[in-house]
Amino acid sequence: MSQEQISLEVEIAELSLRNPIILASGILGHSAEIFERIYEGGAAAVVGKSISLLPRDAYKPPAVVEVRGGFLNAIGLGNPGAEAFVQELKKLSAKKIPVIASMFGSDPEDFVKMTKILDSAGASAFELNLSCPHVKGVGTEVGQDPDLVTKIVSATRRNTSKPIFAKVSPSSEILLQTVKAAEDAGASGITATNTIRAMALDVESGMPYLSNRYGGLSGEALHPIAVRCVYEIAEHTKNPIIGCGGVVDWESAVEFILAGASAVQVGTVLASKSIGTIEEILNGIKGYMVRKGYRRISDFVGLAHSGK
Ligand SMILES: Cc1cc2nc3c(=O)[nH]c(=O)nc-3n(C[C@H](O)[C@H](O)[C@H](O)COP(=O)(O)O)c2cc1C
Repeated sequence: MSQEQISLEVEIAELSLRNPIILASGILGHSAEIFERIYEGGAAAVVGKSISLLPRDAYKPPAVVEVRGGFLNAIGLGNPGAEAFVQELKKLSAKKIPVIASMFGSDPEDFVKMTKILDSAGASAFELNLSCPHVKGVGTEVGQDPDLVTKIVSATRRNTSKPIFAKVSPSSEILLQTVKAAEDAGASGITATNTIRAMALDVESGMPYLSNRYGGLSGEALHPIAVRCVYEIAEHTKNPIIGCGGVVDWESAVEFILAGASAVQVGTVLASKSIGTIEEILNGIKGYMVRKGYRRISDFVGLAHSGK
């Protein structure tokens, strides 16, 4: 098999992407210029920073700290609100860059309004952030409440025909219940996972590094946990899964695909390494496919389940 015989194209819930690599939400903010660079660097799509209906202030610094195995962040879901994101979305949509708009909140009515605003501005798909680990009331608590998940996903579904991905938490005790509630209410697929609630202390001051004390752990340390979540979800659904958490090279991306993901998001690695990492991951996946004789990504999605 040669590289020419290989296609990296994937179809996830009617979203056709030139390859399986997507920028994860939040790490690089929401400016169209940065998203364009990431797309030109090889990513097939970008997820916007999570947006609320109205602007929301971020937590005070320090809001991000590097720890062993990744980053700890507690930005507090600060964002300029749905109307402000429309400007960025329009620029990207004019350039045909696929944008998955990420939304959060706890009031289904907010999702109705945000979906209308972002759908008409050109979002290619939606990701519902049901899983931020460091913000009270609008993060993991939402995902832990299947009735609320149903209401939020239904509200979004009623207002768009585009794909909707529900983003889940790696620490949820009711992960599969949340997945089922989201899918029954019309979610097209699942993004697994968000960061995991964590903490780091400065031994000199004796105090937590982050102003919010608790944060979300991302990066390599999260990867095996996220792979477990993808694998577990894949055992229970036929809908597409997007793997997210600690992808740093082609091996970690392939691991997600073998566990059952049809596409993979990259986040933290792009905060410490160059955009060239995306191309390296894609080349590594291609080399793997040549060696294994896979023509399409779908040839090895979920293969880890076959040996059971
Ligand atoms: C600084 C920072 C900000 C983030 N902001 C968001 C966000 O707004 N919405 C969201 O769903 N996830 C957010 N995340 C989580 C990432 O999208 C991703 O789920 C997580 O970092 C795991 O992937 P990674 O290990 O590749 O970074 C953020 C992560 C970081 C590090």
